[in-house]
Amino acid sequence: MVPERQFRTPLFDAMVSLAEAKKVSFHTPGHKSGKGISTRFRKFVGRKIFTIDLTTLDEVDCLQKPVGVIKEAQELAAEAHGADRSFFLVNGTTVGNHAMILSTVLPGDEVLVARNAHKSILAGIILSGATPRFFLPRFDADLGIAVNVGVEAARSAMRDHPRARVVAVTSPNYYGIAADMPGVAAAAREHDRILLVDEAHGPHLHFHPALPPSAVDAGADLTVQSTHKIVGGMTQASMLHLREGRVDGARVAAVLQMLQSTSPSYILMASLDLARMQMATEGRKLLGKAIALAEEARHRIDGIDGVRCLGAGQVEAWGGFRLDVTKLTVSVKGIGLTGYAASALLNTEFGIQVEMADLYNVLIIVSIGDRRDDLDRLVAGLEGLARRAPGRDARVAEICAVPPVQETELACPPRQAYFAPHASVPLAQAAGRVSADIVTIYPPGIPILVPGETVSRTAVEYLQSLGARGARIDGLRDPSGGSHDTVQTGVAEPHIRVLAR
Ligand SMILES: Cc1ncc(COP(=O)(O)O)c(C=O)c1O
Repeated sequence: MVPERQFRTPLFDAMVSLAEAKKVSFHTPGHKSGKGISTRFRKFVGRKIFTIDLTTLDEVDCLQKPVGVIKEAQELAAEAHGADRSFFLVNGTTVGNHAMILSTVLPGDEVLVARNAHKSILAGIILSGATPRFFLPRFDADLGIAVNVGVEAARSAMRDHPRARVVAVTSPNYYGIAADMPGVAAAAREHDRILLVDEAHGPHLHFHPALPPSAVDAGADLTVQSTHKIVGGMTQASMLHLREGRVDGARVAAVLQMLQSTSPSYILMASLDLARMQMATEGRKLLGKAIALAEEARHRIDGIDGVRCLGAGQVEAWGGFRLDVTKLTVSVKGIGLTGYAASALLNTEFGIQVEMADLYNVLIIVSIGDRRDDLDRLVAGLEGLARRAPGRDARVAEICAVPPVQETELACPPRQAYFAPHASVPLAQAAGRVSADIVTIYPPGIPILVPGETVSRTAVEYLQSLGARGARIDGLRDPSGGSHDTVQTGVAEPHIRVLAR
């Protein structure tokens, strides 16, 4: 039974009441309920949205120190997700990841990090001055992706690094592949470690029994979710959930005060209030529909010659992993295309925009916003792509898609490397030097190099070969293009920031 109070939306209601009261405003934002906004903007989106673009006022509370409707909205979110305390975030899971690290480690502390971490976890480590001790996820060479971390890998990392009090994992990953979170949480408890989970891709898990268990339910101490990625939050709207016991909630609140804007967007926060209400009251029904649509599409995609879609059976056969079936990882290797090329063709030829592409796959997110027609278009697009594919391109299969990431010791802690005197050298000549930047293929944003890591020849070759095939690489520089640090196909000789000798 859904508690009656979960139908409430205290923050949104207060915003609407305030807007309807039509008080005269001598405060920010300067557009004054849209009266001063550009006409073109207002013509496109209408007037109403601007009347709830508010600022911190008594009626609508203050995110930095909530005592009224934001406090109530956060309490409802905690109850809905099974957490002890929840915090609204207005800079995505990125700021939540920074906050998780900064509220649990001190400069010089060791922190165990699964190597499939998003770059925002690494950024948190740079900010904190902690030293990461990496452990590796399982990789699948056929799909060319990091599967996720196994419980045994996590457990042995905890045994090998008794000084690391904090363990950070990402689950589910971008492809919806979840680690055995109850198993990882049990291992963390046994070894008395604080468990931080980047659950950017899992804000819906708690609300449907056919999905993998959520990190909060599994017992994680801190969990961050991108409400905007999968359910009804607006872009940048995320949540951080806390389980009391091993983490100091007051410290988390203080760190968030330091990291978050003093002018948070009320529209983003209202979307969190409403998304929580929607999931709590009708999430199971809405997600049930999304799951059914995704499973049907998966079946139809598997029927296309040369195209394959990752299914729950395959993931479970790896042992200890679960699949969020609303994600469709479609391998196009068999029709001779890279995921990058398939993504571009789906976009330009068929009007289909996918979430992400990697070397072998395109990733489709099916959500509560999709309808059968949308999935019909996807299947028709993939059929069209398979018919018009250039035939088998040996080069697609011949390159190694598995990121050459390692568990090896860093030459120095990431913070030290990030701020040390550095030089910019051509990537081709970087092997043996120490990276000063986070270098990722984006998306999915898993660091191929972290600051303080010695650049290996395999890493150079991997970045070169993926760059040449259309991957977007963050953290390299175009020497002719000034300060750009995102490099895509076409940059003849990207540079990398390394420590000066
Ligand atoms: C695993 C993971 N963590 C964190 C993030 C950052 O989340 P956000 O975009 O909400 O800041 C992403 C973004 O893609 C992600 O994939």
